[in-house]
Amino acid sequence: MRHGPSQKSDMHHLVETQQFTRESLKELFVLADALEGKREESLKGKILASLFYEPSTRTRLSFESAMLRLGGEVITMENGRESSSQSKGETLEDSIKVINRYADIIVMRHAEVGSAARAAVVSDVPIINAGDGNMGQHPTQALLDLYTIQRELGREDDIHVAFVGNLKYYRSPRSLAYLLSKYKNIRITFISSPELRMADDVKAHLKENGVPFTETEDMVAGIRDADVVYQTRIAKEWIKNDVEYEKQRGRYIITRAVADSMKEGAIIIHPLPRVGEIEAEVDASPHAVYFRQVGYGLIVRMAILKTILGNG
Ligand code: CP
Repeated sequence: MRHGPSQKSDMHHLVETQQFTRESLKELFVLADALEGKREESLKGKILASLFYEPSTRTRLSFESAMLRLGGEVITMENGRESSSQSKGETLEDSIKVINRYADIIVMRHAEVGSAARAAVVSDVPIINAGDGNMGQHPTQALLDLYTIQRELGREDDIHVAFVGNLKYYRSPRSLAYLLSKYKNIRITFISSPELRMADDVKAHLKENGVPFTETEDMVAGIRDADVVYQTRIAKEWIKNDVEYEKQRGRYIITRAVADSMKEGAIIIHPLPRVGEIEAEVDASPHAVYFRQVGYGLIVRMAILKTILGNG
């Protein structure tokens, strides 16, 4: 399995954010900048298969839109758990070997942690991990999160990020924490209930890489000095116990008053969808950038496709 990208030309499968270097991130983001508002034919003749075994709005549609804007074509499978031959007992490995005959690149979301890595082992065409399991990774979300942070703040280093809410069963903050460890003078505050704390593997990685972090249950104090507030959703699909879900839901809500307490220039981001954890009245706040973040996602995904497929 080739993971890459230690250099841009090495990128093949995109499974986890640990694959990236500071240099390869810079190259990707420069390309994303250049692709803003563009339509081109650079991927004409290439076919993207979007293979979604779990629900998605943004990731699937933005990858498909990105491919079309680069002149490529798309075949798509949504609701794969029910609609695909997995429901007849086909293994993931067999499905991937088959789709290799139809497409030049596969974007896959799957409920099992490690599924993207399993797919990459048997796939000759690149696999892009669009989310694997509740405690896996969502690397392209983290790439667009990081792009958003750097573009909105205008710098790469010296950033205090406060992650809020569901840090345990949420793959995007996990992926972003790995990326942040590549920069200088990064500080992280993890704000959550004891039940939804960030997992030990991520915290061990931060320690190994000298990234200071603290953990607290106090959102108001935790975000006061933050440059970035990364709000998350309490994911009902991963917290099966209804009593536990109801206990967690509503614990960390960003109201307009909370947003107004943030320091000047600080931003609120969220992978979306939101289900009440950022109130609608916050949308008009100068701190709210989560809908601009969606637009950045499109150009970052264009850059990912062009980097992987544009190199042959
Ligand atoms: N942020 C994100 O992954 O959204 P979707 O689940 O809609 O793809």
